[in-house]
Amino acid sequence: MKIIAPSILSANFGNLNQDIDMINQSEAQWFHVDVMDGVFVPNISFGFPVMKSLQKRAEKTLDVHLMIVQPERYIEDFAHAGANILTVHIEASTHLHRSLQQIKAAGMKAGVALNPHTPISSLFDVLDDVDLVCLMSVNPGFGGQKFIPNTINKIKALKTEIENRGLNTLIEIDGGVTLDNAQTLFHAGANVLVAGNTVFSAENPSDTISQLLALSK
Ligand code: DX5
Ligand code: ZN
Repeated sequence: MKIIAPSILSANFGNLNQDIDMINQSEAQWFHVDVMDGVFVPNISFGFPVMKSLQKRAEKTLDVHLMIVQPERYIEDFAHAGANILTVHIEASTHLHRSLQQIKAAGMKAGVALNPHTPISSLFDVLDDVDLVCLMSVNPGFGGQKFIPNTINKIKALKTEIENRGLNTLIEIDGGVTLDNAQTLFHAGANVLVAGNTVFSAENPSDTISQLLALSK
């Protein structure tokens, strides 16, 4: 499965409905929703009011990426706010195994995000319980940063592990995805590419989404 998930962090919050509609009408399959608390990452993005707007108008999967400390405190709230996939950071989760069970019990798919310095092996003891692994290809906190090349090695190694175990776990790449590196990422084994700046700074965002998706072929 190959998916483009535009990150609404880069959308125009003065006219969010317009960008939501653009994604609804595009070839993108998911909305990527970045929630930041100013503690786990040095930036604050948005929370439930924006989630509510998305829930009302977005017609596609809501892929919610929590960059917050103690994410387990908000699992139920995000389920009620319409999240379909809820991703927590391994670095912010003291009891990751329990959080994964709670996310699934609340009716969502469970994702785990790894910062660029976190080895993929740190996830291996719970990998069978994970629906999606989000490999951060920038240090989380801001859109528009430069892709960290070592991510390619992590994708390949994780893909091998997933295949060896016969799992269906999706690999998502988040940060610095461009029209220049998307094909390499897909070929290395990525299933989902998050794209913020590349999509929303483009002259034709919808067309750019199609171009990114075409690079999976
Ligand atoms: C970064 C966020 C990303 C961000 C990606 O902390 O998790 O999802 O929106 O933005 P770009 O594609 O601009 O790097
Ligand atoms: Zn993200």
